[in-house]
Amino acid sequence: MAVVSAPHTATPDALLRQDPEMAEVILGETRRQADSLQLIAAENFTSPAVLAALGSPLANKYAEGYPGHRYHGGCELVDAAERIAIARAKALFGAGHANVQSHSGSSAVLAAYAALLRPGDTVLAMGLPYGGHLTHGAPVNFSGRWFDFVGYGVDAGTGLIDYPQVRALAREHRPKAVVCGSISYPRHIDYAAFRQIAEDVGAYLIADAAHPIGLVAGGAAPNPVPYADVVCATTHKVLRGPRGGMILCGEELAERVDRAVFPFTQGGAQMHTIAAKAVAFGEAAAPAFTVYAHQVVANARALAKALAAEGLRITTDGTDTHLITADPAPLGVDGRTARGRLAAAGVVLDTCALPYVEGRGLRLGTAAVTTQGMSEAEMARIALLFTSALRGGAETARRVRAEVRELVGRFPPYGKLS
Ligand SMILES: Cc1ncc(COP(=O)(O)O)c(C=O)c1O
Repeated sequence: MAVVSAPHTATPDALLRQDPEMAEVILGETRRQADSLQLIAAENFTSPAVLAALGSPLANKYAEGYPGHRYHGGCELVDAAERIAIARAKALFGAGHANVQSHSGSSAVLAAYAALLRPGDTVLAMGLPYGGHLTHGAPVNFSGRWFDFVGYGVDAGTGLIDYPQVRALAREHRPKAVVCGSISYPRHIDYAAFRQIAEDVGAYLIADAAHPIGLVAGGAAPNPVPYADVVCATTHKVLRGPRGGMILCGEELAERVDRAVFPFTQGGAQMHTIAAKAVAFGEAAAPAFTVYAHQVVANARALAKALAAEGLRITTDGTDTHLITADPAPLGVDGRTARGRLAAAGVVLDTCALPYVEGRGLRLGTAAVTTQGMSEAEMARIALLFTSALRGGAETARRVRAEVRELVGRFPPYGKLS
């Protein structure tokens, strides 16, 4: 029996015939995503076109190097795919150069550091207790092992980035690079202020825009590209592409960035993912994506307000983005217990560290529910379901579970699933 017959073998039916065990897992996960409320701030539903590119025979192709300069034969068409992805990324974000090969957001940050820094250099980034990412100096991560990180925080009263503190720390520690970006900061970042701080001490500015980059594409958040030397991003959050990373910079750093990705930190490019990134960039350039990005923010604002009205403490008293962080303590429940109760009711989200709060808080986002077509009215309903579930009790969980199922059933991400 031929292993490969035609591209259309990459369908659920083919998988079902050949490997029912794995097909069952994939179909089960597909149902889980559609049957519960996806409030994980870093997730979204990619389009069928993105999924088609991901499941295409481009997955078979080895392509070390860059378009026109590959170590493998037969790269003419994947070269075309990568050139399209690069051109679309540059146009979408107004960047002089784009590298679309990073396998993930973390790989993109690793490559940015490799391009600009040497082991032992000092880097100033948001401290992990305030919302810094693992790659911003966590001791368990390469960043904390190989660089000397200094952490800045947020103001204890407002929860906003303490720019005077960032400036003071920069002057004191003279970092080689300043990193701005976070896993949980719900407000816009003042890239111009960070640029000034970096310039003041002769440091590079690296923007880790993993979270807001999709809002940037849709014109709903400020663009770091004009301010940062290097911008790192993921392609799978609000941007709604495949799981992966990307780096944007000016032409003057293009070669250093490219060489930091390949051959320094990665091998062969994942051409199916790069094609899928190109599809997502194309979608993000369409007017409908601008509407989407603004609705994501409107939904997050509405949800934050409704959750606050139900008694949750919302960090910074609201949001400018897709992302909300909340302390459920006023409802008498800690973050971990809250996540468990919400999960039992079909509401899926993360816990996260909250500045100046002991224990874990909750992090949620509106990218996925907005892709499903929900708007402010549904956010008000979600807030009520959310707080009912938080108050606990098996009977309440069952009732909320049924209501969640009814709600998401009206907004199927990929049409009706059998
Ligand atoms: C600020 C920031 N940087 C980097 C990353 C890493 O992305 P990935 O999980 O794709 O490695 C994330 C992921 O959420 C992030 O929020």
